[in-house]
Amino acid sequence: MRQRAQFATKMGAIAATVGSAVGLGNIWRFPYEAGQHGGSAFLILYLACVMVIGVPAIVAEFVIGRGTHKNVSGAVRALAPGKRMHWATWPGIVASLLILSFYSVVCGWIVEYLFQAVAGTLRAGTLSDYHRNFSAFVANPWRCSLWTVLFLLLNMVVVRRGVKRGIERVARVMMPLLFLLLLVFCVNSLLMPGAREGLRFLFHPDFSQLTPRVAIGAMGQAFFSLSLGLSCLLTYSSYFKDDTPLVKNACVIALLDSLVAMMAGVMIFPAVYSFGMEPQAGPTLVFEVLPAIFYQLPGGYVWAVLFFALLFFASLTSTISMSEISITYFQEEYAMSRARATWLNTGIALVLGVLCALSFGVLNRWTVCGLTLFELFDYVSSNIILPLGGMFYVLFVGWWVNRTFVDNQLTNGGTLKMAAKGPLMLCMRWVAPAAILLVFLYGLGLLG
Ligand code: PHE
Repeated sequence: MRQRAQFATKMGAIAATVGSAVGLGNIWRFPYEAGQHGGSAFLILYLACVMVIGVPAIVAEFVIGRGTHKNVSGAVRALAPGKRMHWATWPGIVASLLILSFYSVVCGWIVEYLFQAVAGTLRAGTLSDYHRNFSAFVANPWRCSLWTVLFLLLNMVVVRRGVKRGIERVARVMMPLLFLLLLVFCVNSLLMPGAREGLRFLFHPDFSQLTPRVAIGAMGQAFFSLSLGLSCLLTYSSYFKDDTPLVKNACVIALLDSLVAMMAGVMIFPAVYSFGMEPQAGPTLVFEVLPAIFYQLPGGYVWAVLFFALLFFASLTSTISMSEISITYFQEEYAMSRARATWLNTGIALVLGVLCALSFGVLNRWTVCGLTLFELFDYVSSNIILPLGGMFYVLFVGWWVNRTFVDNQLTNGGTLKMAAKGPLMLCMRWVAPAAILLVFLYGLGLLG
């Protein structure tokens, strides 16, 4: 049998999983979703979802992945031989391709802004300048598609080089740098005139904003941001060594990921209020606020270039992890070479990605239930497929998988003490599935 790759060190394993989790989901999607869904109500629900559903679901994926060292479908088959349960993993594989497609479009926007920043065409201006600049860009079919295509090709090159060399090295250097830079911008935003209003929007509890839409959105955001429910963490954990502490890693990921999202909020909302913008602007919000933040600082050029460059790398570590799901699947289930599997993954994402890129311009009339293709892929995968996938993994590990096997994984064969095992299993078996179900029922308008 072919030797399977492994992350070289425990730190490398954490860095790569955090690299997958931290990305545009935190810095682009969280602020705009929170902005559209009433700020604090969204934040509270999002954090509750991370704790009650997120952590147990991450552990469930880790137990399956590290316990079997296989791709998602093979892993589930190994743990439930003769049952056709691995079918339940297919929607996740489809979702990984859908997400890769629309995510690459936004990565393309980052590349455009990085270019504009370097070339000096993105420079100090008024808010309407930034708005005009962005609107003109997304409506330009050629430029948007070109960046999407180039980004996907670059992603392919990195992914083809394999797990250890490609992913680990990039993640370990770039993530701490991005964190530092965010910290600087948070401090800067806290000194702005709109700081009080911005913080109030994000942190002052206002339950009148709590609607079914907000609940579904917050749960979807928790899943999206943690790279959860589509077997991404399962696939990465299949590269973990047997002494990697699973529960500790799950907590570190949940903590760091939520921290980065909140930092992005603290950086964006005070600025939104200071510049007199609306928090509800949607997917374009961050692209209009960020330049305003950078260029009101001394040395705006340097800040802009640095930030977009780091955000670019953070997004790349996320797209690498999305690609890894279907590539490992194609490789191991259909005996494809890595090169072929990578081409197939990229080919699908190229077609769908370009369609998403065009949905802001020439294809903006192609809608389903009022959603453009870009919005549809995002909504269906984040808010529906991912939570259902998460539900499957917690139920599978909580009820189906052999208890000794699960215990062995949680304690690394008895070498770790696990005081939280009882509550964790309780969450996996009852609390997390019930919470997901409740949010769905509420979201569909069947409750309350
Ligand atoms: N979690 C990533 C982010 O926040 C996005 C992602 C989703 C990555 C699903 C992998 C799988 O940017």
